[in-house]
Amino acid sequence: MSYFKSIAFVFGATCFLAAFVTLSVYIAQPPWVPGWLQSDTNESPDKRNNDIEDFIVQEVNPENIRNYLRYLTTRPHLGGTEAEKQTALWVGDTWESQGMDEVHLVPYEVLLSYPEKDTPNLVRVLDESGEAAWTSQGWQKPLYAPEESSPEVPPNFNGYSAPGDVKGEVVYAHFGRQEDFKTLKDQGVDVEGKIVLARYGEIFRGNIVDNAEKLGAIGVILYPDPEQYASAGEDNVYPDTVFMPGTAAPSGSVYLGDGDPLTPFYPSVEHAYHIPESEAPLTKIPVQPICYDDAREIIGRMGGTVAPEEWQGGLNVTYKLGPGLTEPGWTLGLEVLTHSVRTTTYNVIGVIKGSVEPDRYVVVGNHRDAWVFGGADPSSGTAAMLELSRVLLKYRNETGWQPRRSIVVCSWGSEEYGLIGSTEWTEQFQKQLSGRAVAYLNIDIAITGNYSMRAISAPLLTDLVFQAATKVPNPDEDEVAAGRLTVYDTWALRMPDQDKPGRPRIVGVGSGSDFKGFQHNLGVPILDISYTHSPEMYAEPLYHTLYETFELMDELYDRGFKFFSAITTLWSILAVDVAESQLLPMSLMEYSDFISSAYDDIVVEIGPLVAERNLTLDHFGEAVEAFAVATQEFTDNLPFIDTDNPLAVRRANDQMMMVERAFIDPRGLPDRPHYNHVVMAPSISDTYSSSAFSGLTDILNGITELSPEEQERRWETFSQHLSAVTHFVHTSAKVMSDTLW
Ligand SMILES: *[C@@H]1O[C@H](CO)[C@@H](O)[C@H](O)[C@H]1NC(C)=O
Ligand SMILES: *[C@@H]1O[C@H](CO)[C@@H](O)[C@H](O)[C@H]1NC(C)=O
Ligand SMILES: *[C@@H]1O[C@H](CO)[C@@H](O)[C@H](O)[C@H]1NC(C)=O
Ligand SMILES: *[C@@H]1O[C@H](CO)[C@@H](O)[C@H](O)[C@H]1NC(C)=O
Repeated sequence: MSYFKSIAFVFGATCFLAAFVTLSVYIAQPPWVPGWLQSDTNESPDKRNNDIEDFIVQEVNPENIRNYLRYLTTRPHLGGTEAEKQTALWVGDTWESQGMDEVHLVPYEVLLSYPEKDTPNLVRVLDESGEAAWTSQGWQKPLYAPEESSPEVPPNFNGYSAPGDVKGEVVYAHFGRQEDFKTLKDQGVDVEGKIVLARYGEIFRGNIVDNAEKLGAIGVILYPDPEQYASAGEDNVYPDTVFMPGTAAPSGSVYLGDGDPLTPFYPSVEHAYHIPESEAPLTKIPVQPICYDDAREIIGRMGGTVAPEEWQGGLNVTYKLGPGLTEPGWTLGLEVLTHSVRTTTYNVIGVIKGSVEPDRYVVVGNHRDAWVFGGADPSSGTAAMLELSRVLLKYRNETGWQPRRSIVVCSWGSEEYGLIGSTEWTEQFQKQLSGRAVAYLNIDIAITGNYSMRAISAPLLTDLVFQAATKVPNPDEDEVAAGRLTVYDTWALRMPDQDKPGRPRIVGVGSGSDFKGFQHNLGVPILDISYTHSPEMYAEPLYHTLYETFELMDELYDRGFKFFSAITTLWSILAVDVAESQLLPMSLMEYSDFISSAYDDIVVEIGPLVAERNLTLDHFGEAVEAFAVATQEFTDNLPFIDTDNPLAVRRANDQMMMVERAFIDPRGLPDRPHYNHVVMAPSISDTYSSSAFSGLTDILNGITELSPEEQERRWETFSQHLSAVTHFVHTSAKVMSDTLW
């Protein structure tokens, strides 16, 4: 037991200080170190045990990561295919050979979506007699890596498009946001019965399709504009640079839900009830991605009003709104054969058993399926995860160590289609996970560039990721030469938090990756880390294309796999910190700051509207205040917890765990039963984005333009949700105490 006590002490309270000893970078603690980390400590620094962290820093091996990545990117491995199953078996075998305590292969039969293998989806310019005057490219053209020519590469498609063969006039809708369609309307361009052509890049593609479909569009064509994806010019692209060539047609799902479309809320296990496919919440119109060489062909032939200045893009043509083409009688044809299929996808779950609290789980995860080779998305993450497990198991082999809590390592299937594997799993193990999982640490894409690390973090894990990043040596030689010795230093410099000077910006929790079920349905706090491409661009330009290859990673982004090693080291340290710390490393004060400032924003944003309605936000404000008081009290008391008393420790940890869970509304958010977390749910108009208390703000968004009846309904829903939110914030404040009242 004493072994664990000393480990626990280190991670629970002072590993942050210990990092300064090894790295000698800082003189004083940055201001964001919470009180309980600073004040605790009657134990001497020599007792601080950095063994595991030092081991991780030493042991993570770039050559291993490179080999894992090489294997994972040899074949296209779309979710639900034989190739995805092969990668699942391989990950399972790798974990077995590393000595994982348990390895489980978890199949789910789910609805996925594929193009016809040999007959591509096509966009055509049709002349007045209906003959094709021009036809789009069915596949992305091989440019560099030998595997790009593989016969297994699927034709261009968007997941869960409806099949269909439509003809009509084309309308250009910029990024396909609600405001873009409003601009079109103001310009007198109706999209009803038309084919919408929109750019990728500002909002989740599923939202673009949804916006167009609601306005009566009969089809959607999506393309990447060089303005966003080839900013250095069309001659400066892959394979010479990481920018997008004119032949790249990014894939991606257009499903707005999460998990198997046929088994909502429940796992698609053997006895599952399936809703009829016709009732699945999928688009009813055909959707197809094209490359920008093809987009130029269409836009260059379009008629109608010239598009606004901000709508002009990087192609050397004048962008017009349409509708239609300049040639009289000519139309656009969109023929899509993409269709849905029930098939099996696999999760692979490995467990390193905990010794003191085996029933508490630190869940680490990454998906495995890819649109094509997935050099970045997700195989860079899978390669990192296999090295993480190897390093921890090697440490166990050499020292006899077992983590305090169990570490559960998850390789998800079919994330790309709509978080299918992770959603089914969090549905299947909902009760166990919501009772026992302490945190979920995700990597979707480990390397989307080498500019800076970035973190999406629940407020509760913000201090944890800051501290861990100070322990990882900087992989960027120029940055080291400039005196920035850790990953944290470059992060703080290149992605500064505008509101909290001196610390890095944390990206709020939206959706769009496998952490969704954990954060939004179970109330398990999450982290998602990666290296980014640039301050403007979180994903790399070749995201979801054929050209996201091993070679892209090996030759352009990370020669020597140094950035890979850094992110693997960081991820491993995070997992160990959560698994080992006696008291959970959760930053309650961050959460109360987050909620208080979100409340202040809400008051500014909707306060006047609410007051006009003779409603009040005061009770909500009181709950927010109660939460702030409770977190402060709890934090102040932490140093006095009798850490020799396992029940006292467990009690404090249980209370911390309950804080996040208390925000879960089992009924879900208004009109959004798949989101339960009243604080963190992403905004309705863009699944990727994040905003706090969006259940409240979404309802009032644009309310004054609605019919009186709809306004009435919205206000009723608002009042009810406001009351629910207020209740859950009070509850969350209360769960931090021993008493019921
Ligand atoms: C635009 O550039 C492309 C590629 O360089 C070229 O083939 C095309 O003729 C140009 N089109 C116009 C309208 O200038
Ligand atoms: C740990 O030891 C087991 C049993 O000897 C071995 O099979 C496994 O490969 C070792 N794991 C690592 C990562 O070295
Ligand atoms: C970082 O990535 C850029 C491409 O975005 C590449 O040109 C550069 O060589 C990379 N730097 C390192 C140190 O690998
Ligand atoms: C709010 O209260 C005022 C004063 O009682 C009243 O005149 C007004 O009609 C009310 N507004 C609404 C929307 O109920």
